[in-house]
Amino acid sequence: MKVACIGAGPAGLYFAISMKLRDPAHEIEIFERNAPGVTFGWGVVFSDQTVENLQANDPKSAEVIASEFAHWDDIDVHIRGECITSSGHGFIGIGRKRLLEILQDRARELGVTLQFNAECDPTDPKWRDYDLVIASDGANSRFRDANPEAFGVDIDVRKNKFVWLGTSRVFDAFTFAFEETEHGWIWAHAYRFAPDCSTFIVECSEETWRRYGFDTMEQAESIAACENLFAKYLDGHSLQSNASHLVGSAAWLNFRRIKCDRWSSGNVILLGDAAHTAHFSIGSGTKLALEDAIKLADVLNRPGLSLEAAMDEYVAERNLEVLKLQNSARNSTEWFETLERYLHFEPLQFAYSLLTRSQRISHENLRLRDREWLEGVERWFWKRATDGKSNKTAPPMFAPFKMREMEVANRITVSPMAMYSAVDGVPNDFHLVHLGERALGGAGLLFTEMTCVSPEGRISPGCTGMWNDEHVAAWKRIVDFVHANSTAKICLQLGHSGAKGSTRLGWEGNDVPLDEGNWPVMSAGDVAWSPVNQVPRPMTRADMDIVRDQFVAAVRMGIECGFDMVELHAAHGYLLSSFITPLQNNRTDEYGGSLENRLRYPLEVFAAMRAAWPSDRPMSVRISATDWAGENGITPKDAVEIGEAFAREGADLIDVSAGQTWAEQQPVYGRMFQTPFSDRIRNEGRLATMAVGNIYEPDHANSILAAGRADLVALARPHLIDPMWTLRAAAQLDYRDIHIPPQYLNGMSQLARNLKREAEAAAALRV
Ligand SMILES: Cc1cc2nc3c(=O)[nH]c(=O)nc-3n(C[C@H](O)[C@H](O)[C@H](O)COP(=O)(O)OP(=O)(O)OC[C@H]3O[C@@H](n4cnc5c(N)ncnc54)[C@H](O)[C@@H]3O)c2cc1C
Ligand SMILES: Cc1cc2nc3c(=O)[nH]c(=O)nc-3n(C[C@H](O)[C@H](O)[C@H](O)COP(=O)(O)O)c2cc1C
Repeated sequence: MKVACIGAGPAGLYFAISMKLRDPAHEIEIFERNAPGVTFGWGVVFSDQTVENLQANDPKSAEVIASEFAHWDDIDVHIRGECITSSGHGFIGIGRKRLLEILQDRARELGVTLQFNAECDPTDPKWRDYDLVIASDGANSRFRDANPEAFGVDIDVRKNKFVWLGTSRVFDAFTFAFEETEHGWIWAHAYRFAPDCSTFIVECSEETWRRYGFDTMEQAESIAACENLFAKYLDGHSLQSNASHLVGSAAWLNFRRIKCDRWSSGNVILLGDAAHTAHFSIGSGTKLALEDAIKLADVLNRPGLSLEAAMDEYVAERNLEVLKLQNSARNSTEWFETLERYLHFEPLQFAYSLLTRSQRISHENLRLRDREWLEGVERWFWKRATDGKSNKTAPPMFAPFKMREMEVANRITVSPMAMYSAVDGVPNDFHLVHLGERALGGAGLLFTEMTCVSPEGRISPGCTGMWNDEHVAAWKRIVDFVHANSTAKICLQLGHSGAKGSTRLGWEGNDVPLDEGNWPVMSAGDVAWSPVNQVPRPMTRADMDIVRDQFVAAVRMGIECGFDMVELHAAHGYLLSSFITPLQNNRTDEYGGSLENRLRYPLEVFAAMRAAWPSDRPMSVRISATDWAGENGITPKDAVEIGEAFAREGADLIDVSAGQTWAEQQPVYGRMFQTPFSDRIRNEGRLATMAVGNIYEPDHANSILAAGRADLVALARPHLIDPMWTLRAAAQLDYRDIHIPPQYLNGMSQLARNLKREAEAAAALRV
């Protein structure tokens, strides 16, 4: 094969090497615009896994690279005069220049032709003479941008400004240094990549960058200003740029996240940064480029594989890797872009939040890396959770949490779940066993399902209610059981179905109207939930008074039953949610239009409930923090305002759900997918929040809590199958100080023993 590689970066060089290793008969030419030795940037970081991949592909170059690696284990986070050091992170770094030299030597040795000072023009007809043209020309690829439609290029220019500098100051640890200036926060990511050299990337928000005047400074002035700012970390060493071919402030960049729908067109194939980028804060761009190169060489040399099939396999496999990394990279990028949100944290929690920002590193992961440090975080968490009374070193999920005079024994909640099993709104033996069993299972807090304040406020004929004495007696029986047999607290979730009412039992068709016996529905506006649902009647002021009073009456009944807490359900498109979301609320009076207007009635209901509910008991509100409809619906930014508005009316907790407010929603599912909304409301609004949504492992819960992304963690579906989720987690994490129903003590100790034995056997196998 006759192949041209555009660009002698890691991707182009390593692809050429990998091709020659597989078939020395290939004719490979690399064209590089720069002179040899001229490149941007300083060091790059690798993981052990990448090193293994290089070793398997070309042991010879891998050995040279490995012999020159700088290793380090610690991460230092400097903030507000403190340095938080954690260990066990195991990084490996090498200078970019040195890496390229090693790869150039190896490529030459294998017979690759290298041409430097050779600027390539994608329109040059000579490219037609090659079987393949590998566009390994980096993030600003001319070969990709000459034909963006063919590749389906998607570029997201990120908000922060950064400059990639170097210094002779040698950092023993991977160092994050955050500095507060009169113009805002500015920080450095620094790490050693050679015995006498470190990378020093400076980053800040665009606003800080402008306020500082970096936009008008010459490069030398910019560097001098950075030296000044970070003088205490540089120890008299200077900062240097090797982007001298870039003039003035151009050395400062905005990171560009690139992805492409297609990676080949005609004889051109994208490789490395030309096809995709990953934010420098997770340091994986070079890894991706090298692994792309291995895979592409692999499929191109596999006997019997057509070019088309080779490309399909290359793109399918590499794209999946890229998407996974870009996902983590996005979390990490956003963490730095929303840094302000976390600056009120104490330094230890700030460092924890930084370390877990991409969600690739979890609580247990940190325990494996540095047990002592992690236990320090746990002690800190318990101390804060108990006003300094406890010195316990234990997982955060088992720490108590106090709202008003109610204290929950731990942070795990059974999320509200409709069971569609009541008759005339009356909870029965099913509900007693269902909620009773989950109370015995160890969760600190149980929510009832959405309990409706009137017959016509039900979603289905099977929904529970709270509008008459029979309901009070039936609920009291359940509440009494929970209180008598567990330490769990129980919260009554009250709601009204609005336009989503008069539908079948959940398992007979979600949101599908009844075959017969439908009742008229009302809502904020006259928007039907879907074409098959009834068109609701927009509420009149008289309707509003009636429904508000029904909520208040239900709260009073809740007091009679002995509930510990009440939640107003203002999420998921039901009546109160239909006021909040602009997708359902088409009113033109003072209850429609602006967010302030749309919140007016839900807040009125909440305030009336709060007035009726004892002041020593807490109340929460469940909201949908996004309509999953972009700017057309509720956005996470609006959700902060919504949370704040309810908090002003006395909400002690914002139960942060999302969506179900619009039939055409476009949710983005994944592990802990709604937690970022809780994080934002908690840390921008400084409110107590509960996170929910695909949280299913104890490790998820502990990571969320320790990172300050929520105060409580709710699990719904995991509790359907495993009522004992919390006790099982306690056994798994070897935590004993939890209420275990005495009848179950034997089972619990046996489970703990078996889990311990299994863990020891698994550890022995690993050794
Ligand atoms: C601040 C910062 C820090 C980073 N830190 C890390 C890290 O720690 N770890 C990590 O793995 N990655 C890191 N990266 C990413 C890493 O630098 C890239 O992902 C990696 O270099 C991609 O390799 P590549 O070969 O695809 O592209 P590049 O390295 O960009 O190489 C492209 C080459 O093509 C040449 N070229 C471009 N156009 C033409 C043309 N028309 N004609 C001829 N030649 C051309 C360029 O001169 C260049 O040499 C970082 C990036 C930045 C910006
Ligand atoms: C069967 C079922 C019924 C539900 N009923 C309610 C409800 O009555 N009120 C409510 O606010 N959320 C309800 N939800 C939503 C859950 O409380 C929770 O937010 C959602 O399932 C996501 O959490 P998970 O991923 O842990 O299941 C229900 C969920 C399920 C699975």
